Amino acid sequence: MKRDLISVLDLRDDLEDIIKLARTMKGETKDGMEMELFKGETLVMIFEKPSLRTRVSFEIGFTQLGGTALYLSPNEISIGQRESVYDVAKVLSRFADMIMYRAFDNRNMRELAKHADVPIINGLDDGEHPCQAVADFLTMTEHKGDLKGKKLAWIGDGNNVLHSLLLGGAILGMNVTASCPEGYGPDQDIVAEAKRISSETGAVIQIVTDPTEGIAQADVVYADTFVSMGDEAKKEERLRIFAPYQVNMELFSRARNNAIFMHCLPAHRGEEVTDEVMDCSRSVVFDQAENRLHGQKAVMARIAGKR
Ligand code: CP
Ligand code: NVA
Repeated sequence: MKRDLISVLDLRDDLEDIIKLARTMKGETKDGMEMELFKGETLVMIFEKPSLRTRVSFEIGFTQLGGTALYLSPNEISIGQRESVYDVAKVLSRFADMIMYRAFDNRNMRELAKHADVPIINGLDDGEHPCQAVADFLTMTEHKGDLKGKKLAWIGDGNNVLHSLLLGGAILGMNVTASCPEGYGPDQDIVAEAKRISSETGAVIQIVTDPTEGIAQADVVYADTFVSMGDEAKKEERLRIFAPYQVNMELFSRARNNAIFMHCLPAHRGEEVTDEVMDCSRSVVFDQAENRLHGQKAVMARIAGKR
């Protein structure tokens, strides 16, 4: 049976293993080892939204593993408009060995996965960003060691990236506190699921509104844009509501004094984070970006059953 990665929940049984595999494969890449896991195979990448990291890291990653990656830009196939999701799934399954999809709507993501005969990897949708979470937990492990009992403080919007971090943190036994303005918290079902999982792993999952409260004792502080792709119509209103959630030195200094700063990027310097925090010695944002490559190579190898 083929395996997909739509939600971090799809990695529930092997998230820790995939992070270990990513570290191994990162070492192998740095040692110049050639890998031909996907020799002769093709990854099709469908993008409904713009991308720097996801596009480049998937294309380079699949190429490093011996395969060929094909990019389809937002105005190319218009899934569900020019052609039904079902037909796109069936056609692409005849050409590709794996599909990465960046979508506006999680329902199209699930529909594509349901009808495709090859693995589908979620490269971000309105619900989650699971590949980002894999890279992030890899980065946290590199900087903080065992994540059990450590605290991740999310500051800002209750969005797709937070959803994946909540589920992943719960699976790994990492405490996650999200500070979000009233009415902008994460999806209730995701929070409930993360709390269910955390009761087995010992993680503590909390949603608060006060960023000063949320950041206390944090080992990792995480910011993301206040205006996700698709939310642009409400940009002005969001920038106003989220202003108190900016991670500046004053707020960052309330975390542990060895806390690291993370951001999935792209960052909007001067909005959700200041230059001072982005560029400080405890900011690991570019390690995170690099780890998209290593994390996804491990994800692709694992879901294809090759490692
Ligand atoms: N973090 C991330 O997914 O970046 P892109 O939108 O540039 O791919
Ligand atoms: N939350 C952001 C993440 C971008 C990588 C968005 O969805 O636009």
